[in-house]
Amino acid sequence: MNDTLYFNGRWTNTSERVLGVEDRGFQFGDAVYEVFKFARKRPIFILDHFRRMQRGLEAIEIRNPWNESSFVRMAEELLEQTAFEEGIVYVQVSRGESERAHFYPDDMKPTAIAYSRKFRFPDAAKKERGIRLVTAPDQRWKQCQVKSVNLLANVIAKKRAQRAAAEEALLVGDGLVREGASSSFFVVINERVITHPLDEHILPGVVRDRVIGLALASKIRVDERPIRETELLDLDEAFITSTTMGVMPVAEIDGRVIGNSQRGEITTRLQGLFDDLERSESSERPATLRSGDSVQRSR
Ligand code: PDD
Repeated sequence: MNDTLYFNGRWTNTSERVLGVEDRGFQFGDAVYEVFKFARKRPIFILDHFRRMQRGLEAIEIRNPWNESSFVRMAEELLEQTAFEEGIVYVQVSRGESERAHFYPDDMKPTAIAYSRKFRFPDAAKKERGIRLVTAPDQRWKQCQVKSVNLLANVIAKKRAQRAAAEEALLVGDGLVREGASSSFFVVINERVITHPLDEHILPGVVRDRVIGLALASKIRVDERPIRETELLDLDEAFITSTTMGVMPVAEIDGRVIGNSQRGEITTRLQGLFDDLERSESSERPATLRSGDSVQRSR
């Protein structure tokens, strides 16, 4: 299906082959990306995504072609032109195109693209049933806080999960559980929600941050500390979070059933709170006036 494509300031269609073969995003993975969700043609948590992209671009010294307001405007225009109400938007900014060499010229013109896609978000049955995970070695680079398009290690881990009839790979490094190959990871032990702290080992997930905010606002205790792989043997509950999955219960890890084989109580509560928050984000008011203010983190 051909969809509207934003390419360096102009509107075209995904059927047009816009990218040069010497674009550094294509040849070197020299690029940062974002995926945000939209519903009722409204972008969800768009400024959270923009700010993470901004930090990633700064970390690898690529100029951001957008500021907050031009990004929101671009997204609104894209969704206006999109034929469906609900889906995801993929955004990518690469360092740009130049004759292939590891050294890059100063003052490169970044390549910016964005397009919308239909997406089948998990239905109610799946959100109750949950998904299977398998552990896999974390073979990623050492700046996982940057949402870089270098996803080779993630892709390999994910394929491994698929071959084991699981939907997500849980990445483990130095005996510590970091995160999913494309999701943040949480466990519940003795009514405490535990997730890896923000550092270079994980992506600062937009949903992760919102869920922590919701938990704290509901007086659920949250510890941001690494989870030892051995702790996976005795969990009360586990769940992953991501833009495409929301809050998704984990039913099994490496074939071991989590908790009492039902969606856990705290997971269920957080899933409900998060779904409500997402729904309120896609309600009438414009995104520019809302994002960033819906949940106050009080820690
Ligand atoms: N993935 N960790 C990793 C490694 C991810 O790739 C993602 C998201 C997350 C969750 O982040 P967020 O809550 O901001 O979606 C955590 C996106 C959806 C993807 O690559 O498609």
